[in-house]
Amino acid sequence: MSFNPPAAVVVLAAGGGTRMKSAVLPKVLHPICGRTLVGHAVAAARELTPEHLVVVVGHMREKVAAHLAAIDPDARTVVQEQQNGTGHAVRVALQALADDDVSLDGTVVVSTGDTPLLTGATLRRLVEAHAADGNAVTVLTAEVPDATGYGRILRGPSHEVQAIVEHKDATEAQLRIAEINSAVYAFDAKLLAQGLAEVRTDNSQGEEYLTDVLGILREAGHRVGAVVAADYRDVLGINDRVQLAEARRIMNDRLLETAMRAGVTVVDPASTWLDVQVGYQPDAVLLPNTQLQGATVIGAGAEVGPNCTLTDTEVGPGAHVSNTTADRAVIGPGATVGPYAYLRPGTVLGAGGKIGTYVETKNAVIGEGSKVPHLSYVGDATIGEGTNIGAASVFVNYDGVNKHHTTIGSHCRTGSDNMFVAPVTVGDGAYTAAGSVIYKDVPAGSLAVTRPQQRNVEGWVERKRPGTAAALAAQAAHSGAPLQADPEATETAADA
Ligand code: UD1
Ligand code: CA
Repeated sequence: MSFNPPAAVVVLAAGGGTRMKSAVLPKVLHPICGRTLVGHAVAAARELTPEHLVVVVGHMREKVAAHLAAIDPDARTVVQEQQNGTGHAVRVALQALADDDVSLDGTVVVSTGDTPLLTGATLRRLVEAHAADGNAVTVLTAEVPDATGYGRILRGPSHEVQAIVEHKDATEAQLRIAEINSAVYAFDAKLLAQGLAEVRTDNSQGEEYLTDVLGILREAGHRVGAVVAADYRDVLGINDRVQLAEARRIMNDRLLETAMRAGVTVVDPASTWLDVQVGYQPDAVLLPNTQLQGATVIGAGAEVGPNCTLTDTEVGPGAHVSNTTADRAVIGPGATVGPYAYLRPGTVLGAGGKIGTYVETKNAVIGEGSKVPHLSYVGDATIGEGTNIGAASVFVNYDGVNKHHTTIGSHCRTGSDNMFVAPVTVGDGAYTAAGSVIYKDVPAGSLAVTRPQQRNVEGWVERKRPGTAAALAAQAAHSGAPLQADPEATETAADA
C-alpha cells in the first residue's frame, strides 16, 4: 500500500509544564536519550514526510524556538500567546498557515511535544488507518495500567468512539475506563477547522479542548475512529520528572534491545545507557556502567567499559576502552584506552595505539602504534607512528595567553618526566632523557638531555641524621654486617 503523507503535522508544545517544577527549562526541552522531548516528537513527525511541520510554542518560547531552529530549521514555529487549551493551540497553528496562504488539503496530524516514546511507525499506522477507514478524525488510543490524568475514550453500544472526556470532567463511571486519549490524532483538514470553530470553553479548566472536536464531528454525522496503540508505552505523556525518568528507562531499554538484536553484547542493561544516534557493529561488548552519548559509534569486536562515558566518540573495531571519559575523540582499530583516561575533543588515536592510565589528551593526533601509557597530559600535539612517550610527561601547551603546538616524530623514545615546552618539535627517531625539559627542537636521531648533573654527598645521612633507621641502614651497608633491628632507632631525626 502506498503511503499518503499528511498535509501537515502540528506538534503542540506551548504548555507551561508546571508539574516539572523547573525554573530554567520548559518541559519540552528536557532531554532523554540524546534528544529533547520535542526533538523526539519532531523526529517521529518527520518520518511521515509531511508537507508542513508546525510546532506551537508559547511558554519560554525563545528557548524552544531557538532549539527547533537548531534541530529542524524547516519546522515552522507558531506562537500561541496564551495557553487557552489544546483546541486553541491547533486553531492558532491553522490560522498561521492560512495567513501564509497555505491551504491544507487532506490529512492533518496533531501530536504533542510531551509524548517522546511515540514512534514514526505508530504514527504511520494511525495515518494509514485514518485513510483506509475514510474517517473525519482518527484518535490514537491505548489501554494503560494507570489512566490517572488522561482523557478517557467513550465508546457506544457497538464499540464506536463517541467522545473524549477529560479526567477532570469525568464521572466516577467514566474514570474507570482504561482506554485513554494519547492526544495524537489524524484529522481531515477541512473538518478539523470546522470542528474547532464550534469548540466551547464550558469545562472545568475553562479551556478550548481539542478533544471536543471528536464529539462535535460525530454529532455532525462524520466518521470518528480510533487506532489502539500496540504498545501502550508509545503514548505515555510526560508531565513530571518521575514520568521523565520512566520514559528514559523505557526508551533506553528499547535502544538496548535493538543493539543486542544487532549483535552487541550488553553485560548489564540496567547500567548501560544509549542515546538514539549511537551506532555499533556486531560483537561490540558493553561492560557495566557505560554511557554512550550523541553520535558515538562502536566498531566490531570493540570492548567498552566498565565505567565509560563516551560522547560523539568513534571507537574502532577491536579497540579496548575502560574507565574512560571521552568527548569528540577518535580511537583507532585495535587501540587501547584507559583505565582512567580522559580524552577531550580533537583526540585521534591511531590503530593499535595506546592512551593509558591517568592520561589526559586534547587536540592530540597520536599515530599508529604510538603509546602514551602513564600519567601524562598531551595537549595540542601531533605524535608520529611507533613512538613511546615516557611516563609522567606534560605537553606544556599554554603560555598563559596562547596555546602552542608540539610535534613529536615517528619511532621516538621520550624519557619519563619530560616537559615539552611548546612550540617545539622532536624529530623522527629521537630520544630524550628522563627528567628533561625540552624547550628547543630536537633533530632527528638525537638524544636530548636537559637535566642537571647529579651530585652525591657521601656520608651525609650518617653525619646529619645519626640514629635514624636510614643511618643504621647506611652503616650496615658500609660495614658489610647484616642490619640489626634497633628498637630505639627512629624513622626520622624529628622523632628522636
Ligand atoms: C491532553 C489531552 C488528554 C490526553 C493527554 C495525553 C486535551 C484537552 N487533553 O491532556 O485527553 O489524555 O493530553 O497526554 O487535549 N498545549 C499547548 N497549548 C495549550 C495547552 C496545551 O500547546 O494551550 C500543549 C502542551 O504543551 C502539551 C500538549 O499540548 O504538549 C498537551 O497539553 P497538556 O496540558 O499536557 O494536556 P494533558 O492534561 O496532558
Ligand atoms: Ca500532557
